[in-house]
Amino acid sequence: MKIIAFNGSPRAERGNTAIIVEAFLEGCREAGAETEHIYLAKKKIAPCMGCFTCWTKTPGVCVIKDDMKDLLKKVTEPDIAVYATPLYVDNVSGIMKNFMDRLIPTAMPQFERDAEGRMRHPERQKKQARTVVISNSGFPQRDQFDVLRLLFRRLAGLGHSELAGEIYRDEGELLRNASAALKPVIDRYKELVKKAGREVVEKGRLSEATMKELEKPLIPYEDYIKSANESWG
Ligand SMILES: Cc1cc2nc3c(=O)[nH]c(=O)nc-3n(C[C@H](O)[C@H](O)[C@H](O)COP(=O)(O)O)c2cc1C
Repeated sequence: MKIIAFNGSPRAERGNTAIIVEAFLEGCREAGAETEHIYLAKKKIAPCMGCFTCWTKTPGVCVIKDDMKDLLKKVTEPDIAVYATPLYVDNVSGIMKNFMDRLIPTAMPQFERDAEGRMRHPERQKKQARTVVISNSGFPQRDQFDVLRLLFRRLAGLGHSELAGEIYRDEGELLRNASAALKPVIDRYKELVKKAGREVVEKGRLSEATMKELEKPLIPYEDYIKSANESWG
């Protein structure tokens, strides 16, 4: 089984998103999967121009010459694709959004309905069968991820994929900046994320119980707010 993570954090390997993705992929490898972690911030990905040339004159081929040429091949490789992004303005990062927009050559222009009656385009290029979402946020508030929950549910339908799991981490800034006192808490969380990686490979998806466990606060919200405000001065 091949798993590729597309990481949309501008901080790339220095980010909180990367900490979660690395633990997840380690778990996947422990269960026998082959993994790859792609930092989109290190790639040249221009915004889609909306010309639809990839649907008309050059079917499946974008006119923009940048790293999306190789990334469009990459999205066809894995059994599971991980979309990993920090929460930016309640949504995916700009880097991730540019990447997702530029996947449009993988679709065909015609309209069709999915099994639930929602509009989508037929696939031109077979992509991954399943998707996992990983995100983290600065605020301590779980319902901030509601936009992503809805977005990736809809995208799974649009992208002919099945949502196999979601890992949402609020209080995300604790991951990079953990004090010695917090290290055991973060280590425990990483172990849980690793277990999630093993579960996805072994069972095909994350259970509701694991996803709930992954969303428990790392420290009490009021303590996090106090230390965040102190650190900002
Ligand atoms: C432009 C920008 C927008 C952000 N928007 C939100 C937000 O809407 N909600 C939130 O909780 N955190 C927000 N954050 C904080 C990030 O989600 C947080 O710092 C996260 O840990 C970054 O992950 P990374 O280190 O992987 O990039 C924002 C940060 C930036 C720079």
